[in-house]
Amino acid sequence: DRRPRVLSGIQPTADSFHLGNYLGALRQWVALQESHEAFYCVVDLHAITVEHDPKELAQRTRVAAAQLLGLGLDPQRCTLFVQSHVPEHARLSWVLECITGFGEAGRMTQFKDKSARHGADRATVGLFTYPVLQAADILLYQADQVPVGEDQRQHLELTRNLAQRFNHRFGATFQVPEPYIPQATAKIFDLQDPTAKMSKSASSPSGIVELLDPPKTSAKKIRSAVTDNEREIRYDPETKPGIANLLTINAAMTDRKVSEVEAEYEGRGYGDLKKDLGEIVAAFAEPFAERVRGYLADPAELDRVLAHGATRAREVSGATLAAVHERIGF
Ligand code: ADP
Ligand code: NA
Repeated sequence: DRRPRVLSGIQPTADSFHLGNYLGALRQWVALQESHEAFYCVVDLHAITVEHDPKELAQRTRVAAAQLLGLGLDPQRCTLFVQSHVPEHARLSWVLECITGFGEAGRMTQFKDKSARHGADRATVGLFTYPVLQAADILLYQADQVPVGEDQRQHLELTRNLAQRFNHRFGATFQVPEPYIPQATAKIFDLQDPTAKMSKSASSPSGIVELLDPPKTSAKKIRSAVTDNEREIRYDPETKPGIANLLTINAAMTDRKVSEVEAEYEGRGYGDLKKDLGEIVAAFAEPFAERVRGYLADPAELDRVLAHGATRAREVSGATLAAVHERIGF
């Protein structure tokens, strides 16, 4: 396989993915399995960097995998696995921690944000070294490209620095990955605060459309979305962020340009825009939820798919780790 390689992961830290995850990231994952040799993982090691409930984590990991399959990841066309099933991740992470500067790790802004949110005294060492584990995730697969959002740029820069440092010190071992930021990637905002990104960790429940929400719930959330006091439907993220967000979601869900959607609603009211978007989301979410239920109803098959993914992932990551160990004198 001589297609470029991509690696991406998502945390199993919610009961459902949301529209931001889907339109900003997961939709690209599905597209990339055609053009790239793709490795995708549910990153449960990352999920324990904050306090968690073991039963809930186990269930969310399975639901995350079922959702990825339900969105169209095809285990014949990509490698889909659970991070903790592949021990190479934790083992490479340790080696990389030993070439990461303490100050260098301390400059990661996401750690500063998250530790502030959880309270500095409750922040764990795992949360601090999280970006190094993320570097291990990527470098184990010799990924050429990493599809990331703007928020992950700094972590990818650390990954590149660690790869170059290791290669320089111990000999060429790692592919140095490039960020891959697809043009079409949408940034989706919170329905209740359309100046903040829709986020499972920061948004209120009514600000997030979860993919597994019943269609009635999504329609209601969309109907209650914060807009503005004008009447005109126009794409203007500066002065009309709520309407701009609804137009962006509509365009992304229907594969159209925002300008086309804008034209469709010229002279029409906010109520129409919201009602239609509720229906567009429902048309997507209903068959999606049905597929997810199907995957969850057959646990043995889901286990088989994930075991197959882990085996394939270990072939690649095991070879990288063996080379690393040899270079460092193990
Ligand atoms: P959250 O911010 O809800 O905690 P994650 O950080 O787990 O979500 O993000 C998983 C993926 O979804 C990442 O690739 C991230 O860039 C993308 N993503 C998350 N929220 C949004 C959003 N509101 N708009 C676009 N992409 C998003
Ligand atoms: Na996040």
